[in-house]
Order: sequence, then C-alpha cells, then structure tokens
Amino acid sequence: RRGSALCLREFRVSSSIKSSGQVSYELRGDVAVMTVSNAPVNALSLAIRQDLVARIKQFEEDEAAKVAVIVGEGKVFIAGADIREFKRPATEPHLPDVIDGIEACTKPVIAAIHGVALGGGLEVALGCHFRVGVKGAKVGLPEVHLGIIPGAGGTQRLPRLAGYEKALEMIPSGAPIGADAAKAAGILDDVSDEADAVAAGLAFARSVIDNGTPLRRCSELVAPAVDAQVFADAKAAVAKRARGQKSPVVCVEAIEVASQTSFADGMAKEREMFMELKNSAQHRALAHAFFADRALGKLPEIEGIAPRTLKSIGVIGGGTMGAGIATGALMNGLSVTLIERDDEALGRAKATIAKNVGGAVKKGKLSAEQEQRIFDKALSLSTDYASLSEVDLVVEAVFEDIDVKKQVFEKLDAVCKEGAVLATNTSYLDVNAIAAVTKRPQDVIGLHFFSPAHIMKLLEVVVADKTAPDVIATGFQLGKIMRKIAVRAGVCDGFIGNRILATYRAAADAIVVDGSTPFEVDDVMLEFGFPMGPYAVADLAGLDIGWATRKRKAPTRDPRERYFTFADRMCEQGWFGQKTSKGYYVYEDGARKGTPNPAVLDILTEERKEKQINAQNLSKEQILDRYMAAMVNEAAKVVEEGIALRPLDVDMTLIYGYGFPRWRGGPMQYADEIGLEKILSNIKAYAEEDGYFWQPAKLLEELVASGRSFADLNAESGNNSAAKK
Ligand code: CAA
Ligand code: NAI
Repeated sequence: RRGSALCLREFRVSSSIKSSGQVSYELRGDVAVMTVSNAPVNALSLAIRQDLVARIKQFEEDEAAKVAVIVGEGKVFIAGADIREFKRPATEPHLPDVIDGIEACTKPVIAAIHGVALGGGLEVALGCHFRVGVKGAKVGLPEVHLGIIPGAGGTQRLPRLAGYEKALEMIPSGAPIGADAAKAAGILDDVSDEADAVAAGLAFARSVIDNGTPLRRCSELVAPAVDAQVFADAKAAVAKRARGQKSPVVCVEAIEVASQTSFADGMAKEREMFMELKNSAQHRALAHAFFADRALGKLPEIEGIAPRTLKSIGVIGGGTMGAGIATGALMNGLSVTLIERDDEALGRAKATIAKNVGGAVKKGKLSAEQEQRIFDKALSLSTDYASLSEVDLVVEAVFEDIDVKKQVFEKLDAVCKEGAVLATNTSYLDVNAIAAVTKRPQDVIGLHFFSPAHIMKLLEVVVADKTAPDVIATGFQLGKIMRKIAVRAGVCDGFIGNRILATYRAAADAIVVDGSTPFEVDDVMLEFGFPMGPYAVADLAGLDIGWATRKRKAPTRDPRERYFTFADRMCEQGWFGQKTSKGYYVYEDGARKGTPNPAVLDILTEERKEKQINAQNLSKEQILDRYMAAMVNEAAKVVEEGIALRPLDVDMTLIYGYGFPRWRGGPMQYADEIGLEKILSNIKAYAEEDGYFWQPAKLLEELVASGRSFADLNAESGNNSAAKK
C-alpha cells in the first residue's frame, strides 16, 4: 500500500533545527533601523534574541542614533517565540530579559508593525516605548492556543497599557485585533498611512525627535483599578468555555496578578506560570496540533503538482449532505449546479440552502449582496445530468447504496467534460469500485464531508488506487476554497474517521453490556473533553442509521464477534433518538439536551441476563482506558495500513470531525503521553476476555519493541516541523 507507516522513512529528512535569523542595524540619518529577519515569520529564535541584545547595546552606544525603530523583514513584524525551540531547555538570553533590555533603553525605541505582531512579537512591541502600525496590521497574544500564557511580560504590560478589561478580552481568547481597534485600545500610538513599516517607523521617529516626546515604559504605567469581581467573573466564564483546558484560566489569573503586585513581582509570577504550562501535556498537545495543521497538506505525492481549475462544481443529491456541500461551496464563491431526481426534491434542496445561507447572513458571515448573488447567479438547479457538462468538479451525495452510486457515476462519465474531477461523498463504500464503472478512474476521488457540511471543518480526501496526483491536489484545493481542514485518507470501510469511530463505539457497547451505563460512558467522555458522549451523539445522528447498517452487515458478520442487541431493541420500540424524542435520553418538548432514559437500563439488564453476564462495575478510569485503547489500537491499524499517512493525520481527523479535545492533541498524541507500553499492555489484558476484538495493532507492537512513539513516526515523515529533532 501507498504510504504505509512502515515505509515512512522514505520521506525522512535529515535536517535538524538550527537557531536561525539575524537582526540588522542600519543608520538612516539619526534613526537606527533594526530589522528582524528570520523567514518565514521572524520567530524569536535564540539567534534573534542574541542579536536583539547586541543591537540594543549598539544603539545605546551609537551617538549618531537618537531613536531606534524595530521592524520585521518580509510579510510580518514578529509572530512570537520560536515554538520549535520550546522542546529544548530554555537558553539565555531569555525573551523577558531581552524585552526588559529594550524597555530600559535610555533613548526611544519604536516598534513599527506590519502584518502581525503576535505573542512574543507583541511583547517585544510592548517593551518598546512607542508602537506604530500600518493599515491592515494585527496584534494579539495567541499563546493560549498553544496551552501556555504570554511568557515575556504580555500579561503584565498589556493591562497596564490597555486596561484590565481589554487584557481579559484579548489574552484568554488569543484573538488578534486590527490596527484601528489596537489604536482605540491604546496599544498602538498611531496607525500610519505610510505603505511600509520602515517608512511608518521613520515618520513616527521624526515626530518623537521633533517633539522631544518623553519615553513611556509600559512597566511604569498604572492601570485604572478594577473590582476583584471582574476577575472572578472572567475566570468562571473562561473555565466554562475552556472545558478542561488550563491555559485560558491561567491567563486570567496572570492578568489578575498584575492588579495585585509590583511589575517585578508580576513578571516573576508570570514566568512561573508560563514555565509550568510550557512543561505540561496540554502545551505539548496543542503545539503538536499547531504543526500538524500545517503538515496535513504537505504530501510527497502532490508536492509541486498544480490543482486543476476549480470555479464551478456540480452536486448530485440535495439531501442532508448535498444541500450542505452546495451551501459551503456557494458561500465561498464557487458556482454550483445541483442535480436532484425531481422538481419537488429540488425545491426542498433550494429551501435548505436558502435557510443555511440566510443563517450565515444573520450571523454576519455573509453580506446581503453575497446572498443575492448566490441566488441570482451562482446556484443552478436541474434534474438533467447534461447540465453538468461544463463543471470542473462534481460531488455525488446520493443515497448510501453502491448500485445507485454506480449508476450516477456512469452518467457522470457520459456527460462531464474531459478533466472534470468526479468525487463521491460516500461514508463507507468502496471508492475503487465506484471509480471502476467509469472510463476515467484517474479522475475519481472520495471527498468525505461531515454533517452539517457547511459548518463542520473536516474533509477526508479519499485517494483511490488510480486517482491522479493533480486530482488529489484539486481535492485539497477544494478544501482550501471551502475553508475546510483536508486530511488525506486511503480506501477502506469508513476511511480514517468512521472506521476508528466504529471500533471505539463497539468498545463502548461492550463496556455498557458488561455492566456500566451509557450515561456513565457519556459522562466520562464529557469529562475527558469531548463536547458530547457517544450515546448522546448517537441520539443526535439517529439510531436508525446504525440499525440499518447492522442489518446490512448481518450476513457477513464474523461469528466470533460479540454482538449486542440492546440498540436494536431500542430501535424496535421506535426510539431513534432526538428525532423521535426518545433514545438513550428522553427529549421533552423538543429539548436538545435530554435526560437519561431509564428504560434503556431495563433493556440492558435483560440482555445481560440472556447472555449470563455478571455486571461488573468499571471505574471512570477503567472506562476511559478501554475506550481510548480501542481508539488508539484501531488508529494504529489505520496508520499501519497506510489509510492515514501519518499519526498526525489521524489526530487531526478526530479533532476536527469527532470532537476529540484539541488540547489533548488527538488519540495518537494522547497515547504517546500515556505511554504506548501501557496502552499495549491494557489491550493484551482485555484480549484475555475478548481476543477477537482486542487484537493488538502490529504497528503498536513494533513501536513498543523499538522504543519509539507516534511522534517519532511523524518526525520520520519529515513533514511535521514540531516533531523534527
Ligand atoms: N514559531 C515557529 N514557527 C512558526 C511560528 C512560530 N511562532 N509561527 C509560524 N511558524 C511556521 C509555521 O509552522 C510554518 O512553517 P512550515 O512552512 O514549515 O509549515 C511557517 O511558519 C508559516 O506559518 P503559516 O503556515 O501559519 O503561515 P501563515 O501566513 O498562514 O500565518 C501566522 C502566519 C499568522 C504568523 C501564523 O503562522 C501564526 O499564527 N503563528 C503562530 C503565532 C503564535 O502562536 N505566536 C505565539 C508564539 S508563543 C510565544 O510567543 C510565547 C511567548 O510569550 C514568549
Ligand atoms: P439524504 O437521503 O439526506 O439525501 C440523498 C439525496 O439524494 C436525496 O435528496 C435524494 O433525492 C437524492 N438522490 C438519490 N438518488 C439520486 C440520483 N440518482 N440523482 C440525483 N439525486 C438523487 O442522504 P445524505 O445523508 O445527504 O447522504 C448522502 C451521502 O452522503 C451518502 O453517501 C452518505 O453516506 C454520505 N454522508 C452522509 C453523512 C450524514 O451525516 N448524513 C455524513 C457524511 C457522508
């Protein structure tokens, strides 16, 4: 198989991270311009920190220089600390000291910001005596997304400069703000009309020299006092949203420290909090997710390959998925031709799209003019496949039935232009079999969207045996246009996500039949950080879907598989979940959050009696261990078979498609944290009860035997800069 994890070494790169970059110093008249150059985002590597110290000293000693301007080379000012260095022990000069040195300068230092000043980048700017931005610049402290807090004075200087409320808005959310908002908040002293940051900085420097503006050090400012209740309220609100992630709450605590102590003590406390989080599993997980996001589309098979033209698409079927896919495409500027079986179905599809688009307008995500354009120009509806003759790509989203899909693809083969990409949104069916009915299997691919398709982020790009590289590239391009997170997957039953889901759901069912309740399982997974437990999700999706699948698969079921009947019995009563107001939970008066359905427990008791199972009471930890072991084991098989190219592809699939908490980094990252040896020994222990279900993945055994981790596999792929050593 292509891309099997066992041959990942093919892609190995031998590069090791060197601390890179430099800060140049140039005298422009009486102004010293210091330019931070460390492509691509001027991260504050060791070399940059060392150079900054040297350049500040040079400026202090340079009698010809009256003012210094710090700018960034390339597209941004400075995007923060070099995250790749976080894995190594911190090396002097530490950033807080570098920034203290800038602030302590006896002559004015100005930060001239273009692009973004993020994290340590904004902290450098806050250490300067003045800040000017060009139009379009953004500033922010996004450290929270990496599971840390600003660690170079951001939590102490920002509230002193912009007030506690602004700091409480910006730091725990991590959201950047634009130049005008930053000026209004007092973070920028000016927004310049100059085209570039150097010109903006020089103009500002001239006014400082001409006016003899006194130095302003953030550390010496006093923010207006606030009631301590403000912090208590902020902490409660942030903790609720964070659902187990620590850094947002610590952000609030660090800002509160600024209100309680001197600047020096506040800095010491900030450092302590920063270091503790920097050494945490949550930071490791979020840094992994940061780099994994950027590695997803970096695939050797499409490197340097241009995608095909992508302006108009066809969507076949306007049901749940088709209408959502059409909505997402239209909202992102593509033209859509939607095909349904008859006018009535077309009318329903149009109504759904109108509702989705209207919702986006209400939320301010789309303008009324864009809405108008969609219905006047961009959307065409038809019952005639011939209307697809000119589209660049088609996504089929008809019923999940292989014969229906084959008929659709035969028709597409007959009507679509040469070079059109033919995609199926199938959840489980064999994309190779679908491709085989066409004369152009190289143009066929799976594009597996998730419901609701205009909202859910994940897109599995399913590569079949004969799919051409530029068709894969086009799948990723469609993902980019539609603002999805595209993950490459291979062909198997359920691809990456649904295949792993089927396994951990089966483990959950076994846990439940063996003695726990569905509500306990849901609670454990909620506590773990999932937004919903698996049984609440089943109620939402509709229990009839799984029932139909089980019936379909019954004839081919392996007799060694433990088969559970409680879900079938529930369906036999007409309990299909939320849509029938009853499933694992009861939904009174159309409520979206249910209360446990006690009758489910009776059904379970009956099943245990029939199967002579002595109910065992698993602890929360035991439930979690089993659930996660099933997930990790199947995920390892998915990587071993090359269905996912790297462990990081699995992690991002579970995060973006299945609610796995990002701050745990996905199942593979979680497994690395727990230790693969422990996971494997758990699996072997469970196998003594059910050897058919709990067959350890070979990859897991191989990694344990060789003392390697999933992170090592990611590193061996050469595409995850965080994992590079
Ligand atoms: N450190 C190291 N590498 C970084 C980086 C950083 N802070 N920020 C970005 N990069 C790398 C990316 O990994 C990527 O590398 P590859 O090309 O090898 O994949 C490259 O720079 C370009 O990044 P993007 O693909 O994200 O480029 P973009 O143009 O879409 O976005 C950006 C640019 C807005 C700056 C975005 O990269 C970003 O948000 N970066 C992170 C900013 C951040 O979190 N800063 C806080 C750092 S922690 C800190 O500063 C702690 C402190 O208080 C001292
Ligand atoms: P659906 O039943 O809501 O919609 C299917 C639509 O296809 C119907 O409107 C039907 O009239 C139309 N249709 C059927 N045959 C057709 C034909 N020959 N030509 C034109 N239109 C035709 O089904 P849903 O849920 O939208 O699923 C569609 C596909 O998406 C399936 O393959 C499913 O497995 C997959 N999928 C579904 C997800 C979900 O959560 N519902 C998630 C991801 C994928």
